Amino acid sequence: MDKTFYITTPIYYPSAKPHMGHAYSSIIADFFARFKIIDDYQVHFLTGTDEHGLKIQRSAEKAGKEPQIFCDQISQTFRDLSDTLNLSNTDFIRTTETRHKNTVQHLWNELEKNDDIYLSNYSGWYSVSDEAFYNEDEIEEVEGKKIAISSKSPVEWIEEESYFFRLSKWEKPLLDYYEANPDFIAPQSRKNEVISFVKSGLKDLSVSRKSFSWGIPVPNNKKHVIYVWLDALTNYLSALKYPNKDDDLFKKFWPASIHLIGKDILRFHAVYWPAFLLAAKIDLPNRVYGHGWILSGEEKMSKSKGNILDPLEIIKEYGLDPLRYYLIKEVSFGNDGNISKERLEDCINSDLANNFGNLCQRVTAFAIKNCNGKIPLEVKFNDEDLLILNKYKDNLDNIRLKIDNQNINFYIDYIVNSLFEANKYFNDQEPWKKKDDIIRLNTIVYTTLEIVRKISFLLYPIIPESSLKALKIFDIEEKNIKLSSVSNNEYLTKGNKINKIEILFKKIEKNND
Ligand code: ME8
Ligand code: MG
Repeated sequence: MDKTFYITTPIYYPSAKPHMGHAYSSIIADFFARFKIIDDYQVHFLTGTDEHGLKIQRSAEKAGKEPQIFCDQISQTFRDLSDTLNLSNTDFIRTTETRHKNTVQHLWNELEKNDDIYLSNYSGWYSVSDEAFYNEDEIEEVEGKKIAISSKSPVEWIEEESYFFRLSKWEKPLLDYYEANPDFIAPQSRKNEVISFVKSGLKDLSVSRKSFSWGIPVPNNKKHVIYVWLDALTNYLSALKYPNKDDDLFKKFWPASIHLIGKDILRFHAVYWPAFLLAAKIDLPNRVYGHGWILSGEEKMSKSKGNILDPLEIIKEYGLDPLRYYLIKEVSFGNDGNISKERLEDCINSDLANNFGNLCQRVTAFAIKNCNGKIPLEVKFNDEDLLILNKYKDNLDNIRLKIDNQNINFYIDYIVNSLFEANKYFNDQEPWKKKDDIIRLNTIVYTTLEIVRKISFLLYPIIPESSLKALKIFDIEEKNIKLSSVSNNEYLTKGNKINKIEILFKKIEKNND
């Protein structure tokens, strides 16, 4: 059977243009998607925009635009960002699309049919910025204003007729599910947080609003619109054309392999979403991973706080791959992280320009000069050569395992160490002193080139464009980047031409005063 992998990012609110936090989630998702692509999986990678609800309605009003027109414009900036970030996404969903509305209404009907929805009245605190209901003990008063403790966003009191989802009924089944599926929520700290929240007791959840109209109507009561989170979460199914279960997409890709999200929206994904799915008798996703926040100083970077770093500006100044590399390497995955231009420049200079770029240049220049510009024909490996060559094959299964546990930190350390080791090998072997032992010279060049190929493969999920540029040395095209060639211990074809390549990364002149 074909191996499949379905990964999703959150669908972002098009209430303002994207910032570094959105770029971060999308780049990480792309990293996993590309790793699976080169490991011969069929990959479905979904991202998109979450366009209904009061938050968007108010943002549109503020901009003096019809909500649909407002969403069309800002959603486009998110779509453009996907291109700018070189995402390999296979779909981009908007919740204002018909395909999505149909699935949401279908799911509503299922929940109603199974007696999981009833009509009553809601009164309580609501944050429009989070589109979330909060209990009394989840809010505090700061300078006379009520705010949610977790997100610091303002809350307002609402009282209106509302449909409710019987969330309380799913408290025990959820806890059983978490126990039976210990890897459902990751990382571990997030899982503990979710379990203690559910154990503290679940109240039924308000799932419709009557006081505004920007949303998907409740099927049999057009006075209500469906709660934006029930609407939004369903995107993961509507993109697979659910309820059309016979369709290839749903059969092939559901349950999702991983919903990658920020920890701010953990409760929606790890409590509400699985409860909706249990109630509708749909399989649960394999994993919900809540990563940390990109901070700006001490605070979460966010649109509503206005403390944002524009990814487009960074990309314009430094290029895309340096940003991708930096975010993947420097933010310890799962934790919060601060980002700075200073550290970004260090990454470019030491890891990308020195360790990777320079290695590629040195060995190709040397081979062009001393091996007729061809992959050497006659080689004789010694133990040292074989040790460094075989390492990749020997470690690949472990790397795959680490990736399936979202251990990005391991992956990047592995690459950094490998680069260090490859440079050291080339330096220590001193091929320039071996001109009277041509077989030894050939062997060192061959070994180093082969390592460059393997490291470029491993770098592809992180810096796809630069990896492809490096692989031009060997005329290797994107479709031929396959991890199976590493596990099968395939080597470069002897006698093939070696191409000179352009400089991969320009060093940044640093001002140290
Ligand atoms: O919550 N650091 O949309 P949203 C890291 N529409 N990641 C960040 C971040 C930061 N400072 N800021 C945002 C929504 N993100 C809903 C989601 S899903 C069915 C509906 C990323 O525009 C992170 O992934 O507020 C976070 O969870 C998401 O953007 C929130 O984006
Ligand atoms: Mg948000």
